[in-house]
Amino acid sequence: MPLWYGGDYNPEQWPEEVWAEDVALMRRAGVTLVTVGVFAWSLLEPSEGRHTFGWLDRVLDLLADGGIRVDLAVPTASPPPWFSLAHPDALTVTRDGVRLTHGSRDTYCVSAPAYRAASLRITRALGERYRDHPALAMWHVHNEYGTPCHCDHAAAAFRTWLRERYGGLDALNDAWTTAFWGQHYSDWAQITPPRATQYLPNPAQALDFRRFVSDEMLAHFREQRDLLRELTPEVPVTTNYVLAGWASIDHWKWSREVDLVAVDHYPSGRGTAAAEQTAFAADLARSWADGRPWLLMEQATGYVTGPRMTAKEPGEIARHSLQHVARGAKGVMFFQWRASLGGAEQWHPGMVPHTGPDSRVFREVCALGEALKRIPPDEPADEPLVEAEVAILWDEEAWWAVQAPGLPSAELDCLAAVEQAHRVLWRQGVTTCFAHPSHDLSAYRAVLVPSLYLISDEAARDLGTYVRGGGTLVVSFFSGIADEHTRIRPGGYPGALREILGVRVEEFRPLADAVTLTDFGVATAWSEVVHLDGAEAVARYPGGGPAVTRRRLGEGMAWYVSTRLGDSGYAGVLARAGLAGSGAPGVEIVRRRDRVFALNHTQDEQPVPVHGTDLISGEPVTGVLNPGQCVVVRAT
Ligand code: GAL
Repeated sequence: MPLWYGGDYNPEQWPEEVWAEDVALMRRAGVTLVTVGVFAWSLLEPSEGRHTFGWLDRVLDLLADGGIRVDLAVPTASPPPWFSLAHPDALTVTRDGVRLTHGSRDTYCVSAPAYRAASLRITRALGERYRDHPALAMWHVHNEYGTPCHCDHAAAAFRTWLRERYGGLDALNDAWTTAFWGQHYSDWAQITPPRATQYLPNPAQALDFRRFVSDEMLAHFREQRDLLRELTPEVPVTTNYVLAGWASIDHWKWSREVDLVAVDHYPSGRGTAAAEQTAFAADLARSWADGRPWLLMEQATGYVTGPRMTAKEPGEIARHSLQHVARGAKGVMFFQWRASLGGAEQWHPGMVPHTGPDSRVFREVCALGEALKRIPPDEPADEPLVEAEVAILWDEEAWWAVQAPGLPSAELDCLAAVEQAHRVLWRQGVTTCFAHPSHDLSAYRAVLVPSLYLISDEAARDLGTYVRGGGTLVVSFFSGIADEHTRIRPGGYPGALREILGVRVEEFRPLADAVTLTDFGVATAWSEVVHLDGAEAVARYPGGGPAVTRRRLGEGMAWYVSTRLGDSGYAGVLARAGLAGSGAPGVEIVRRRDRVFALNHTQDEQPVPVHGTDLISGEPVTGVLNPGQCVVVRAT
């Protein structure tokens, strides 16, 4: 199947006469798939149980006539105002106890019975209405699940979830260390979500609540999905994940439940930083999809995060999109088709900007549509879409735990450490993927463990087996410290990984000022008093204590980095561990099965080891890329 191309289409924001022009412009741009109706619940069900599908019928018919398929949204992310007024108990309550009101979006409690019932009602109504519509290609359930609620419904559901997890209160009290600060629970009814507290909350309770929020939303997604599967067994059901710093769901778990992994990605960096973040997002998506194709559900034609919404530079819209395709996307979609004239996101760029189709952005959108058409579909094959020799461990639970207050340094940042590991290898042209600590890692040449605070006994044992079997393991500080209940492993850090690494860390010494190591340059934020216990020191702190160590274990090597290095220092460690790549910074070369994507993110001409005929332009590729140029050739 050719690559999908399109975006969120919100025709309800426009008079009907615009719709025909929309379809004509979509055809001009090569659009093949649009997500319709993500926030249209109030227009589809203007009062309880009364449905007004006429407008959506006309939109879908128009799109079908134009040969454009629809990723039809189930609009349950934003209940209508009548619903919120009738069921105030279904409105989100923040941890401070503030009940939010409608007027924005995503204001619901997934545990509220009225919300669940109304959500399933609109899901069924849409499923029954459009099950046979020729435009229907996919179901887009909800939008970016993730709004936590702290109300009494959530509290009741949390208690049910905890009973299943722990069986009895003794186990819960033990897991949460409730003996501290006299929090011992003697009745389930005493347990609440982690609402506003006088001082620090209980970290195990906070982490369990995040797990619960993800599971509770997943339970509701499953209900919606199963209903749709019953009505349309052939139509895939997906939902779009939000990336970056706001992940409220456990994407590894969710990815086993969706028919297609779909992600939204909005880089916060600009230029090369945006390219680095794009590769990171795409590798995460492919990893969640277990190496299979996934969908870029949303991106923007401009930069939308940060203090300024700036245009993407000429060529960047296509280059970012091709990064996603190179790394396994089966389609490239945008938020949104036409930039809105009013409403909260009226300044958000669209594929058709406020200026209209006579614009640079729309011309680039059309050129991208043309380019995507020329990239042939994947041949069916057993091998993975993209080969990666290096895996980076990524576990959202461990990340959530490091977001708690009360840790030994407010500068600990699990996501930043993971991003650095990916970025440093990306810059050297080493293709990486992500893995959960419970995954089988034996196929990877190296595994990086950047600040994985929580780790289970089994995962730690498996890492040891991995190293003994010949793997290279590079662990960074603040890993292996705690068990899955955030309880610290005694006897010296890094707890569960101490033996594998051959070190015993006696004390943490967070740094106020940078220090310079004997090798690998400047270290910031964090340092440790490390004792060698089978490992050798590779770099030392100014006082002489080991800072970077390595230990031969069985056939493999286990490295430990006990401080925060800069990118070049971390790259130096990886190089010593045998992980240096041969790529040039800003030049991205990725092989997707039999196609090689070569993308020049720099402003200079760049030599590349790529020859052949560019499938996009039909021009020969002779080992050089022009500034900003992207080519796709058949692998030889
Ligand atoms: C996404 C969301 C869209 C739109 C977009 C703006 O997170 O799904 O509805 O708000 O952000 O960038």
